[in-house]
Amino acid sequence: MNKPTKVTIRTLRARKRGEKTGSDNTSGPFSMLTCYDYSTAAIMEEAGIESLLVGDTYGEVCLGYNSTLAVTLDHLITIAAGVRRGAPSVFLVGDMPFLTYQVSVEEAIRNSGRFMAEADCDCVKIEVDRRHAETVKAITAAGIPVMAHLGLKPQSVNQYGGYVAQGKSAEEALFILEDAKIMEQAGAVALLLEAIPAEVAALITCSTELPVIGCVSGPNCDGQVVVTHDILGYSSGHPPRSVKPYADLRGTLLNAFRSYAQDVGGRKFPIGEQSIHMEATQLDTLRQSLDDQSR
Ligand code: KIV
Repeated sequence: MNKPTKVTIRTLRARKRGEKTGSDNTSGPFSMLTCYDYSTAAIMEEAGIESLLVGDTYGEVCLGYNSTLAVTLDHLITIAAGVRRGAPSVFLVGDMPFLTYQVSVEEAIRNSGRFMAEADCDCVKIEVDRRHAETVKAITAAGIPVMAHLGLKPQSVNQYGGYVAQGKSAEEALFILEDAKIMEQAGAVALLLEAIPAEVAALITCSTELPVIGCVSGPNCDGQVVVTHDILGYSSGHPPRSVKPYADLRGTLLNAFRSYAQDVGGRKFPIGEQSIHMEATQLDTLRQSLDDQSR
């Protein structure tokens, strides 16, 4: 198998401009998925997914929390490093967890830098509005590319009182459009729009040079991202953010685990060829030794 061409921010910009990229001359919107482990990352890269997001949704889908707030930077950096080992060519985005960039600009730079230095990420993502423009500028000035996450910001769930779509009124939409401009001026290299109307996402996508990634924000963005567990039917109880199922992993896993439990209970696993065996001469010697000892 040929080694895939490294996807960089220049690749994503080229795709926005409608150019073909990579050794197989792909064009059109690029795909991004959340990823939380090495093995899955390797399969995703092999499948041609261009970008992986080590998202703080890890807290929900892998740790069972009912929000993303409990996730720590150490959690995500360890995971991101594993994802990078599995997928060396993808555009890898590290998601800055709650309170790793809000407290001070200094902390924001230091914490973002850890994703780049310790996990070889291509970019960090932070949930922002215009109040974070100075933070985006400062992280950018430190040489760290920033993806600005606008629209529904899950780390602010308690301010919304739930996961509610944003930008549905003209006034709210205008605010998000202005925020997108402000983020571009502050130096962000890409935008991620979560849970805003398709019409607003289309307007933002047309009005910026930056690659725009949609998450439940309609078909007109330059790229699309979803929480992988949601499209795989790998439900852990949290409400899926996207609806198109590409697999029924829960059903597949449930059947596999039930069969395994039945096989173990019925002594059907492991059987002879799934076991390690001694050579006959060694076994004879062992038996002889045991006999001698018991005399
Ligand atoms: O953390 C995450 O997985 C995200 C996606 C929902 C975009 O931010």
